[in-house]
Amino acid sequence: MNIIDIINKTKRSVPLSSDEINWLVENYTNGIIPDYQMSAWLMAVCLNGLTEDETFALTAALRDSGEIMHLSLPLTADKHSTGGVGDKTSLIIGPICASCGVPVAKMSGRGLGHTGGTIDKLESIKGFRTDIPISEFQDILRKTGFSIVSQSGELCPADKKIYALRNATGTVDSIPLICASIMSKKLAMNTNIIVLDVKYGSGAFMKTREDAEKLASLMEKIGNAAGKKCRAIVTDMDSPLGCNIGNALEVSEAVDVLKGKTKGYLYDVCIELSANILELAGKGSFDECRTMAENAITDGSALRVLRETIRLQGGDENICDDTSLLPQAKFSYTVRAVERMKIISIDSEEIGMTSLMLGAGRISKDDHIDMSAGIVMHCKAHSHSKVVKCYYKRQRMPT
Ligand code: URA
Repeated sequence: MNIIDIINKTKRSVPLSSDEINWLVENYTNGIIPDYQMSAWLMAVCLNGLTEDETFALTAALRDSGEIMHLSLPLTADKHSTGGVGDKTSLIIGPICASCGVPVAKMSGRGLGHTGGTIDKLESIKGFRTDIPISEFQDILRKTGFSIVSQSGELCPADKKIYALRNATGTVDSIPLICASIMSKKLAMNTNIIVLDVKYGSGAFMKTREDAEKLASLMEKIGNAAGKKCRAIVTDMDSPLGCNIGNALEVSEAVDVLKGKTKGYLYDVCIELSANILELAGKGSFDECRTMAENAITDGSALRVLRETIRLQGGDENICDDTSLLPQAKFSYTVRAVERMKIISIDSEEIGMTSLMLGAGRISKDDHIDMSAGIVMHCKAHSHSKVVKCYYKRQRMPT
């Protein structure tokens, strides 16, 4: 096998065997294949795509490049969102599902670019530790049913190296590459249930619903083929999710949702995704699971899970009673419309970039973050749906 043949095959849309894909991933991770040759192959994939079999093989090769987690619980779920502006759903869905008896184990990343990362959001809580050992992660999972830790370097090291190269070579936006990158990490996390929230719109990776559906369907197939109960849902991200954008602001909004104080699109998306996880876990029919998720908010049990997880991960759990204990911005400025008008649409990506420039995000991975910075939106786009637009085909549900 040699790298020039592999690049040429993909350039001419000749499918690679799984042995060739394993060889490529292994030799790039070991440093034998240099960045410039891997970049050429990645660009060929961006231009010509990969077959489903090649995407399956790439996912498996990335997963097998590192450790596979062995969660010592009979039933666990993972939830992944392809990223969006103001997306704090993991902080709400995890506690809801845990309080309904389905532990949620998550490894999350930090924010880069216009979307925020769940780890940064959690670190806005004073004392919260995200780099805990796996044994402690498992212990918290057993106690509260919900824990989130930062990405371990031992899981999918090949994806880590390739993703950094993709970021630097304009090769991120390829459906098979995104699919293999995300699914390798989900499969290495090794939960029984995987629910994927694939977003489309101005603030998301996928700009159109068609592309989001292609990615969702491919990810779901790979998850199910790997023996998981996997479902991908497509949701719209044409407006930021919820009202608050920025780390501490988003934790505060998540707490308000769990207290039942905030309803609307964010609440609806969280209930929908939680109900999917609960249904896949065999907790009842979809409608029963939806009611269960809603009850977890009204009876306060989901908030209790969040409080206990924060405490066990070293954070100040009092933020669940008083969100003003979270970092507060020293200065604020209100932008008002100059006259009465209707907002037709909101460019979520611009809002995300503005929040980043205020200090809430980073352009390069070593940038410092101001946990208190961000934006509170007091308005919604007129066109934005009042109903959660979740698209998935129920017949694809695994039996
Ligand atoms: N998130 C990932 O983990 N990988 C991608 O390729 C895109 C988003």
